[in-house]
Amino acid sequence: MQNLKEKYGPWALITGSSSGIGAEFANQLAAQGLNLVLVARREDRLKTMAARLEEEFSIKVLTVGADLSKPDFIKTINHKTSDLEIGLLINNAAMMYINNYLDAPIEDELKLIDLNIKAPAILTHHFAGKMIQRKKGGIIYVASTLGYMGTPYSSAYAASKAHEVSKGEGLHYEFKSKGVDAMVLSPGLTRTEMTDGLDFSHMPMKLMETEDVVRAALKGLGKKSQVIPGGMNKMMAWMSKRIMSRDMITNMMGKMMKISVDKAAA
Ligand SMILES: NC(=O)c1ccc[n+]([C@@H]2O[C@H](COP(=O)([O-])OP(=O)(O)OC[C@H]3O[C@@H](n4cnc5c(N)ncnc54)[C@H](OP(=O)(O)O)[C@@H]3O)[C@@H](O)[C@H]2O)c1
Repeated sequence: MQNLKEKYGPWALITGSSSGIGAEFANQLAAQGLNLVLVARREDRLKTMAARLEEEFSIKVLTVGADLSKPDFIKTINHKTSDLEIGLLINNAAMMYINNYLDAPIEDELKLIDLNIKAPAILTHHFAGKMIQRKKGGIIYVASTLGYMGTPYSSAYAASKAHEVSKGEGLHYEFKSKGVDAMVLSPGLTRTEMTDGLDFSHMPMKLMETEDVVRAALKGLGKKSQVIPGGMNKMMAWMSKRIMSRDMITNMMGKMMKISVDKAAA
């Protein structure tokens, strides 16, 4: 296990840390002794987590209640973090939907773009410069296996994740000679609030646990440009690049996602 505190400490900032994969990043980084800035809208949850993690791991935890889809959220974050050395940024918060495209108003898609694409861009631009000055740091983009394929009935979400895949790959190359490790984490189906209540039993992929997803990410940080946790997810990503044409994979995803939409509507 690499020494994450030495490489990426003393502070890590995790967006979307009130549940799911973000909360698990908080657990595993706290166990490694990093101080944390936890960001999400449900600050009451963050405060409860902060008290537990400070007590259990003797670290410092700050909480920031912010809606990252709203303009000017960076002012709120800057106000709380301007005198901290943030060595690790985890761009994790996102929203997802599965529906018939025209059933949702355009405002939903624009909010998704603000949260899934604009917020990570603003945060990266804000923190990466100081990391590069210190020649030390890490940035994780939490994307998705859907970022590698056209995904009917969740096309804007998949497109937002394709943006993160490409952004992380590019910055991995651009920043590596400057001492900063950018990496894309592309989970497949994972048991969190995002997948709660959705029926994916007709899909070949099985739900992974957040512990395994985050463990794989932290193992790969500084070594890889991308981590796809889980054998079946790796296989799907590989097939989508090497064996099936993009049209073939989109058709396959379309059939599976249509079943999910119909089940959700039933
Ligand atoms: N679960 C999966 O199957 C799966 C698969 C592939 C990729 N992912 C990716 O994994 C990441 C984490 O998702 P998850 O599965 O852990 O889902 P989750 O449990 O629903 O967590 C989403 C987090 O984002 C925060 N969030 C949502 N909207 C926000 C907003 N407007 N402003 C600030 N924070 C906001 C939520 O906190 P608040 O509600 O308190 O704001 C929550 O902490 C996402 O990028 C997701 O796309 C998930």
